[in-house]
Amino acid sequence: MSVAESTIDPTRLSKLIETEETEFNARHPNSRALTERASRALAGGVASSWQSTDPHPIYLADGHGSKVVDVDGNEYVDFHNGYGAMAVGHAHPKIVEIVSERVREGTHFAQPTEDSVIVAEHLSERFGLPLWRFANSGTESTMDAVRLMRAITGRDILLKIEGSYHGHGDAVMVSVAPPGDKIGPYDDPVSVPQTIGLPADVVALTRVVPFNDLDALERTLHRYEGRVAGMIVEPAMMNAGIVTPDEGYLGGVKELLHGAGALLAFDEVKTGVTIAYGGATKRYGISPDLVCLAKSTGGGLPCGAIGGTEEVMEWIADGRIDQVGTFNGNPLTMAAMRVTLTEILTPDVYEEFDRLAEILRSGCDAALESGGIAGYTTVMSARGAVTYRGERVRNYRDYLEVSDELAYVNWLVQFNRGVFMAPWGKSENWTLSVQHSEDDVRRFVRNLEFLAKALAA
Ligand SMILES: Cc1ncc(COP(=O)(O)O)c(C=O)c1O
Repeated sequence: MSVAESTIDPTRLSKLIETEETEFNARHPNSRALTERASRALAGGVASSWQSTDPHPIYLADGHGSKVVDVDGNEYVDFHNGYGAMAVGHAHPKIVEIVSERVREGTHFAQPTEDSVIVAEHLSERFGLPLWRFANSGTESTMDAVRLMRAITGRDILLKIEGSYHGHGDAVMVSVAPPGDKIGPYDDPVSVPQTIGLPADVVALTRVVPFNDLDALERTLHRYEGRVAGMIVEPAMMNAGIVTPDEGYLGGVKELLHGAGALLAFDEVKTGVTIAYGGATKRYGISPDLVCLAKSTGGGLPCGAIGGTEEVMEWIADGRIDQVGTFNGNPLTMAAMRVTLTEILTPDVYEEFDRLAEILRSGCDAALESGGIAGYTTVMSARGAVTYRGERVRNYRDYLEVSDELAYVNWLVQFNRGVFMAPWGKSENWTLSVQHSEDDVRRFVRNLEFLAKALAA
């Protein structure tokens, strides 16, 4: 029985945040010093704005197995896992071996290698889409998918889900995490630029719809009849905690889009090889026109892939669309991808992910209930998240009601007790690796139990 409204003691909550912040600061003097030095050479002291954390970023020294060690010598079980790119775990012996081997044989040719063929053949089998191309990041994969949908349909409007992130391309940097006072009415959401620097005309061509609402999609397709190229959808939203699709939603999306002459691209950059052997495509049994992959498919090397049906990919095959990139199919990435997909993320590992996920789900839910904390745990094999809201989140507007404070205090508590979580609080989810153990996941549960006890009224 989950708790509908938190009954925690607010004074205890603010006190706990204060003491945990003090401890956090005391544990990271070297990270603080590096942040200061970095700010003179790296804009904002980080390589990507999404590595920034308050009170300051944590600089890591090494990673091995399920653990990472920071520059102050603190060791953590890694629940961040490189924003979900490390389902193989750190320094996996097979990755160390293949990358070392490949480095000695040349790291870049900008010509195809046999590994690129093996990986494409494997992805076809795994995701049920026949033809593939490679890229170097999730952003490149989704950018290619958007271009393909527009080129093939000869239409300009792109639909996306309100509150979904698909990388930092202009077309998709719209209504990613818009503030509640800018989003407009539920029935007609405003397209909110995620950053300045996006041309207004580009933003206007991206229209947003709420997740899990087929009527809203139908209305939008009607409103822009004959103008919608396609829709990019994360089958389960993974940058708002985790928001799962309602039964029948994804199939309905495909039907409505195809009925309107538009295409469907699944962004499986996060879900891809982490929530099932064949990603959301196989888990939900819905085959889109295009699938975008990146992150954990590369075993820790920069990677990206886009797969599609014959009808879609023939536009690339016959040269009507240039899908390009100097590093596409890079031999080092291809070798790591081959070993990751064929030797490490094999079908059996998903059973072990599911076993660990169940320990997390039942343990976290029990802890929340015992502390009177409104919330629930969602697990999808290697992925999972605790959401601090009594009622299930079905879309971005529900997600705005999730408690930032509870997500933040859990982040602090986990950090100070040896669990490394991604920055950005309630938006992130965890990723397990094949090297995570039962002890590792029990540590997370124990920390949440500590939190629940500390906050109980
Ligand atoms: C769902 C989704 N799509 C695309 C991307 C972009 O991937 P990348 O950071 O590799 O460009 C991300 C990154 O977090 C993502 O979560």
